[in-house]
Amino acid sequence: MSFYGNVELACPDTIFDLRDAYNADSHPYKVNLGIGAYRDSEGKPWVLPVVRQVEASLAGDLTLNHEYLPIDGLRSFTDAALRLLLGSNSTSIVEGRACAVQSLSGTGGLRLAAEFLLKFHDVRTVYVSRPTWQNHHHIFKSAGFRDIREYRYYSKLTKGLDFAGLLDDLKNAPRGSIVILHACAHNPTGVDPSHEQWEEIRTVCEQQGLCALFDCAYQGFTTGDVDRDAWAVRHFAGNGLPVLCSMSFSKNFGLYNERAGVLALITGSPQEETSVRSQLKQLIRGTMSNPPSHGARIVATVLNNPALFDEWKGNIQTMSTRIAEMRRLLYEKLLALGTPGNWIHILDHIGMFTFSGLEPNQVEHMKTHHHIYLLANGRINMSAITPQNADYVAKAINETVTKIPFEDSIAA
Ligand code: LMR
Repeated sequence: MSFYGNVELACPDTIFDLRDAYNADSHPYKVNLGIGAYRDSEGKPWVLPVVRQVEASLAGDLTLNHEYLPIDGLRSFTDAALRLLLGSNSTSIVEGRACAVQSLSGTGGLRLAAEFLLKFHDVRTVYVSRPTWQNHHHIFKSAGFRDIREYRYYSKLTKGLDFAGLLDDLKNAPRGSIVILHACAHNPTGVDPSHEQWEEIRTVCEQQGLCALFDCAYQGFTTGDVDRDAWAVRHFAGNGLPVLCSMSFSKNFGLYNERAGVLALITGSPQEETSVRSQLKQLIRGTMSNPPSHGARIVATVLNNPALFDEWKGNIQTMSTRIAEMRRLLYEKLLALGTPGNWIHILDHIGMFTFSGLEPNQVEHMKTHHHIYLLANGRINMSAITPQNADYVAKAINETVTKIPFEDSIAA
């Protein structure tokens, strides 16, 4: 037996595997509605104008070099990220209790949080929403958690939040369990709790001593306003909960491959902050040693300059407005075609995604017959719809659901 003879083939990653399949497809009308990356009105990747501008100025700045960053990252970046998340008047920032270290984007922040919790939190049960971004399972399993459970989140019936199920599951969670919450623009469903519902979730977390770990990957994508999208995290943090939050700048800065992220934690005192930071630094040193600088410099430059900050907020508006327009366009086209089923949820869902309701065999049909790629759970990246392809996509959905009816319509 050779040295690697007993290494079994791992399952491919569904999101990236789908992208590879799309790239390999030579059909002229192919559409990738899968991976969660913003596309412009021509279906192309979009480098935010403010990012282009800052990159040009960084390239000409001869004072910059490629020396190592501190282990916990670029301080002007992590401090600015904290203000973006918690608001500049946040008491935990003012009191020196808020800790932020640089991470390899959202995934790296979650992994770092998982390793930290494995070391310092004695409850090993993790709750993720059903459904959730599939990588949540993977990240926590890889970090060594064995007890990963789901709390109800999405009602197939209403295509909205299963709030009663969610509360019930969290109320019955073992004391101290870790709960992963999506800060805004829930991935994959596009369904967020209301402020009143967040307050009830917060109360249950407090009563059950649950450890709230937010995944904040789409700040700005729900409402187009970064402050409003941080409401849930600010509400939890402002009420004394020991919140952790992994922030990604992949989507709202379009810096996907730069892996710019931050893990933020609200501690109880400046002394705690110092200890927590020192432990996080040790974990970082043992994994990536120290973080990459390019994306962090771009984000720091923008967030620390009022004019660039305003420009960036304008760029976010461009993305969120275009997505909202594409929701309406697709919805109207499906309606005009008399497509079987109710499609109003396309307008109701928020953020980058719509949980279309298309079933796995319908999704497969969309791929094999129409060269349209979406996740098997029916998630659609709404930004990948364009004025040019909306007709084609709507007709494909119409043909698919006419030919392969929804399961509940067969049962009815
Ligand atoms: C997605 O959900 O498609 C994105 O967040 C890309 C990824 O890393 O999975």
